[in-house]
Amino acid sequence: MHESDLLIIGAGGAGMRAAISALGNGHNVNIVSKSLIGKAHTVMAEGGIAASVGDVDKDDNWTVHFADTVVEGVYIGNWRMAEILAKDAPERVYELERFGAVFDRTPDGKIMQRAFGGHTYRRLCHVGDKTGLEIIRTLEDKVLHTDTRIFDEVYITKLFVRNGRFCSALGLEMRTGEFLLFKAKALIIATGGCGRVYKITSNSWESTGDGLALAYNAGAELMDMEMIQFHPTGMVWPPGAKGLLVTESVRGEGGILLNSKHERFMLRYSPEKKELDARDVVARANYYEIKAGRCGPHGGVYLDISHKGRGFIMKKLPGMYSQFKEFAGVDITKEAMEVAPTVHYQMGGIRVNPYTCATSVEGIFAAGEVASGLHGANRLGGNSLADILVFGKLAGDGATEWMDGKEIVVPDESEVAKEIGRVRNFIRNGLNPYDLIDELASVMQNYMGIVRNGDDMRKAIDLIGNIRKRSEDIGVSGGLKYNHGLLGCLELQNMLVACESISVSANIREESRGAHTRSDFPKRRSEWKVNIVCRKNGENLSTKIVRVEEIPEELAKYVKPEVYENG
Ligand code: FUM
Repeated sequence: MHESDLLIIGAGGAGMRAAISALGNGHNVNIVSKSLIGKAHTVMAEGGIAASVGDVDKDDNWTVHFADTVVEGVYIGNWRMAEILAKDAPERVYELERFGAVFDRTPDGKIMQRAFGGHTYRRLCHVGDKTGLEIIRTLEDKVLHTDTRIFDEVYITKLFVRNGRFCSALGLEMRTGEFLLFKAKALIIATGGCGRVYKITSNSWESTGDGLALAYNAGAELMDMEMIQFHPTGMVWPPGAKGLLVTESVRGEGGILLNSKHERFMLRYSPEKKELDARDVVARANYYEIKAGRCGPHGGVYLDISHKGRGFIMKKLPGMYSQFKEFAGVDITKEAMEVAPTVHYQMGGIRVNPYTCATSVEGIFAAGEVASGLHGANRLGGNSLADILVFGKLAGDGATEWMDGKEIVVPDESEVAKEIGRVRNFIRNGLNPYDLIDELASVMQNYMGIVRNGDDMRKAIDLIGNIRKRSEDIGVSGGLKYNHGLLGCLELQNMLVACESISVSANIREESRGAHTRSDFPKRRSEWKVNIVCRKNGENLSTKIVRVEEIPEELAKYVKPEVYENG
């Protein structure tokens, strides 16, 4: 049994930044991480953090960053969150530097910023192509030098709620096979996304939607789950590296996309912004070229930056150089890379209050990729790193303010015993959970992909339902200690929640908007300027449609009005 004022699940950027806030507010914190510290998915945001510090393009400021975020989120993002992000991101970048991060510099010693798709100005503060790594290293260094207790390789299986309020979380410590009960006044969920529910993804093995499902099962609402971001450029070969991120910085630094006929096809799809249009636009263009057969031997289009020369590439993109050299034997200073879209990010997630990150369950807060609202129908590259810092901080502040004067609520012992029994019960003869996980990922890849249609989505819903049914019969041998099969059983339950909420929400939205493209409803429609919200209702998933609030005049003046394709 472990007690603290605040419990944080997830040791990525959002969790770490939230801990710093809570510690600063005088509270003690336990952090639980499913994997080893330092392995957080934050590292996969390679190209930079979006903040309008204006060190490279002087005209940049928060109003432009705000407008870019709203417009590229295709007007269903939470404009208040966009405003908060745009205003706070510069301060979070300066703060990181005070904590010890070292961003690349301009010749006159200012922060170097690069171009990224959908950003009006060069806005991404970066450290070569390893920005996420520098950010997580800096935050960890800060947190590890405090009294915070970090429990790594502990998998949280359930959240307990009493009288509508969070009271504790049960975890399985993989090293020992022991169950740990974490009691706290408040909880912050910062577990990242669910990209692993797809076959081809840039996400690490840990991204199985655990936080989404924990919150959903505890009664919290999920929102915008249909909005799954496909990054335009993932590796296609060798098979072990398929889906691995090829950072947008390659395009930001001048890389161009070519098809097998050597045509620079983005001139056709987006004559003005070309390779630096928003991710949904570029990902779809790559998809259409590949579908038309204008692709390379491994089914990808070509991304070429070799014209920039070896010196430039080794300075700006050293990670990409070694990634392609070591994994594919390709020298990107001389040859083009073969790339294709890869699932990269969930725009949807737990529905939160924009100021405090509170969820709809008292005492539970959420920040980072697991939370929804900010990015709407499409996230701008670099806005995720800004998101984890800005909203990680707000979640830490929101949770500590909320817990003021409150005591820990004691969980019901019989509920805890029941949950331990549920987990133990997977150790039995049964279906292999990894076979079902594999099947689930194929269903999502084949029927819930980058371009969808009603027939496919309904098929996906049926197939997921069938996997849900068979998941009742999974089982593994061995014991509780370091049992990856057991982990698979637990993860499968969470992945099912993610897949159900994605496919049900996607089937409801009868239009194309941002990352949600439907061949049977190709136009954006005014009646769908809504958010789709899911919640658990008994054993079923129920949905509601919530109209997006109009942007108030004092902010609307910065944003170009939405143009609907249905008039
Ligand atoms: O392409 C990238 O470097 C990814 C950045 C992001 O997703 O923000």
